[in-house]
Amino acid sequence: MTSQLDWSNLGFGYIPTDYNVRCWYRNGQWGEIEVSSSETINMHMAATSLHYGQEIFEGLKAFRGKDGKVRIFRLDQNAERIRESARGIKMEPVPEELFKQMVVKCVELNARFIPPYGSGASLYIRPLEIGMTAQIGVHPSSEYLFIVMVMPVGPYFKEGFRPTNICIMREFDRVAPKGTGRWKVGGNYAASLEAGERAHELGYSAVLYLDPREKKYLDECGPANFFAIRDGKYITPASESILPSVTNNSLQQLARDMGIPVECRHIELDELEHIDEAGACGTAAVASPVAQIHDLDTGKHYIISKDGEPGPITTKLYNKLRAVQLGDEEDVHGWNTIVEGI
Ligand code: PLP
Ligand code: COI
Repeated sequence: MTSQLDWSNLGFGYIPTDYNVRCWYRNGQWGEIEVSSSETINMHMAATSLHYGQEIFEGLKAFRGKDGKVRIFRLDQNAERIRESARGIKMEPVPEELFKQMVVKCVELNARFIPPYGSGASLYIRPLEIGMTAQIGVHPSSEYLFIVMVMPVGPYFKEGFRPTNICIMREFDRVAPKGTGRWKVGGNYAASLEAGERAHELGYSAVLYLDPREKKYLDECGPANFFAIRDGKYITPASESILPSVTNNSLQQLARDMGIPVECRHIELDELEHIDEAGACGTAAVASPVAQIHDLDTGKHYIISKDGEPGPITTKLYNKLRAVQLGDEEDVHGWNTIVEGI
């Protein structure tokens, strides 16, 4: 089956693999890890995840290096973030060690789906947790199912590392000011679908959301954080309503390592007039350069990339991040978990 996969031309979509790994929380405790080859789950029609949105997820990647080793990028950060998401919507946090063990197991079991070095593709790991208790009253579940699945993926934006246009649209917010934006909750993505589809129909790769309180500051960019380069500095929004991106955190560290100052602060919309480069960063998006930002309400166009090419600092950061993930460069911050023997 993997022989039929064209590793260098994968998109970002569901591809069945051999196994997924599951664990139930029941009677106040997490049970044994179960390996499944079924792509479906059997659940009660009154489960809280179906009615009241008790669903959280994660996204991380494994890479095969030139040395043949498999590396999972920043596993600990995703383990921690899903626990934060769980606390945010009153779900049972998955113990960090259980999370790590299940992710590693799922990668091992599906090793034949890890794209080869040089293909540009990677193995996307999607952990998710859902409330399983049947109840119609609005309360948290007492039973949860945690599942880890994987699939080989290529670039999230079909353009890959080519600048795309994004848009600002004030008609929709994906989250509320003190809402669930800081957690990776399925409902946030449901709330983004209408705006996202409209943006796609108009030819944009994503929506650049403004802060939902004042619509004055930049927030984040569809399924990714936003960053920009201004006067040689890496700037990125500080906001209570965005997801703390592991990729953004990594790019900030890599920027500092290169001597590029980092500012994590409010970025007013007007500042877009003065930026030299911009990008959308995330596990799926990596660091996708932005060409132009169109404000659909005011008609204003911010031309970020004048020649239509990715900016030099964005390119440097992208290359450095990829090199660390693939093991081409030394992992000085200890970000990679090496999975032995696969
Ligand atoms: N913001 C949103 C809304 C996301 O869905 C993602 C993707 O996970 C990110 C930001 C980027 O986060 P990370 O770099 O941890 O993947
Ligand atoms: C990720 O980058 O891992 C995401 O979760 C983004 C998106 C595919 C929802």
